[in-house]
Amino acid sequence: MRPLDVADYTRIWIFCLVAVAIAAGLVAKSALAMDDADLLKEARGLFQPLPKDMATAEFPVTPERVRLGRKLFFDPRISADGTVGCARCHQPALYATDGLPKSVGVHDQPLPRNAPTVLNAGLYFKEHWDGRFANVEEQAKQGLLGPGFGNPDFPTAMARVKAIPGYAAMFQDAFPGEADPLSEDNWGKAIGAYERTLVSPSRFDDYLRGAPDALSAAERKGLRTFIETGCVDCHKGPGLGGLGFRKFGVVSEYWKETGSQDVDKGRFDVTNDPADLYKFKVPGLRNVAMTPPYFHDGAVDALPRAVRIMAKVQLDADLSDPEVDEIVTFLGSLTGTLPEGFERAPVLPAGGFGPPSSAPSRSRTR
Ligand code: HEC
Ligand code: HEC
Repeated sequence: MRPLDVADYTRIWIFCLVAVAIAAGLVAKSALAMDDADLLKEARGLFQPLPKDMATAEFPVTPERVRLGRKLFFDPRISADGTVGCARCHQPALYATDGLPKSVGVHDQPLPRNAPTVLNAGLYFKEHWDGRFANVEEQAKQGLLGPGFGNPDFPTAMARVKAIPGYAAMFQDAFPGEADPLSEDNWGKAIGAYERTLVSPSRFDDYLRGAPDALSAAERKGLRTFIETGCVDCHKGPGLGGLGFRKFGVVSEYWKETGSQDVDKGRFDVTNDPADLYKFKVPGLRNVAMTPPYFHDGAVDALPRAVRIMAKVQLDADLSDPEVDEIVTFLGSLTGTLPEGFERAPVLPAGGFGPPSSAPSRSRTR
């Protein structure tokens, strides 16, 4: 055996270095895997996957109610000027929003707030930015008289439904055994049943069910930043929000950061309690990347800016550009698949009323 020369020693050295590097790599990788396992565990404590639907014992999702509710959701003929249905402001193609800072109702009347998506809205503890409605059923019923639909009272609204002959049988099927199924309560229950099917699961749900690779490494990093920054103090649960009211502007006045034109007092408008000034329902963040503009008044049109403002006014944190990017990347993983058939408007029963009496008379051109 020849004595070892310099080249041999170099080879041995290189071999040792490579072995050490591989070992270090393995240790780092398992540490990373452990971090990932911890992150998943922490995430599962904070968020839950979306349910299959949002039915409750009180508000069941029967096929008859859902079928009727879907039609009513898309029907514009129940509004005062015959042009506004739910889908005008909750358009499937825009992830059930209208893309406007503030919505426009009948007779082109501007509404005071931004239209949130109705996807997953059945999860929330209350409805509307100021939580004035207890559930989606109540919201849909009262919507008949709101500035969107513009009906003066329930009998007028229901007369518009009754004027479309095909609906009578569908209400009977959906509410069997009731003496007068064509009521505003049942309008709300049917649309509510439909809304309770509007769930939009995403890869984040697969992740929460125990598949760490359902999120990319960048999305997991963003999730970590989202948790560590403190966003989860408010944005948690299956909808990443929708569980309570919080002040918008915990550390500083929100309108100074958003540039909002009017100052909206939020929950105070409902309760008149000074403790509720500028409190809003914490919105869910499912599909948030698809539903600009942001905040109750649509004052902010880009998600990175909305994230930066949130950190500042809610948490007194100045996020760096990379941190904002990370969070925005994570929020993108909350974009879900639209419920089956949602993009397609159903065929509606024919019929309806003539020119509605409450509409302003049109001047003739000749
Ligand atoms: C003219 C536009 C318009 C029409 C039409 C309309 N909405 Fe909305 N919707 C809005 C706006 C704006 C809000 C927020 C109102 C607020 O918080 O003050 C809203 C809020 C909601 C919410 C609450 C979501 C949440 O996150 O709290 C639900 C649910 C909803 N609408 C369902 C419906 C249904 C069902 C119909 C039809 C019966 C309907 N909307 C018709 C504009 C509209
Ligand atoms: C103290 C509670 C709280 C904390 C902490 C918080 N938020 Fe919010 N978030 C809210 C409330 C309340 C609103 C509704 C504000 C309004 O009136 O428009 C909101 C709105 C948002 C919106 C706009 C949603 C939409 O549909 O318009 C985004 C995006 C958002 N938050 C992300 C975050 C992120 C990211 C963090 C962490 C940096 C965070 N939030 C921290 C309470 C909170």
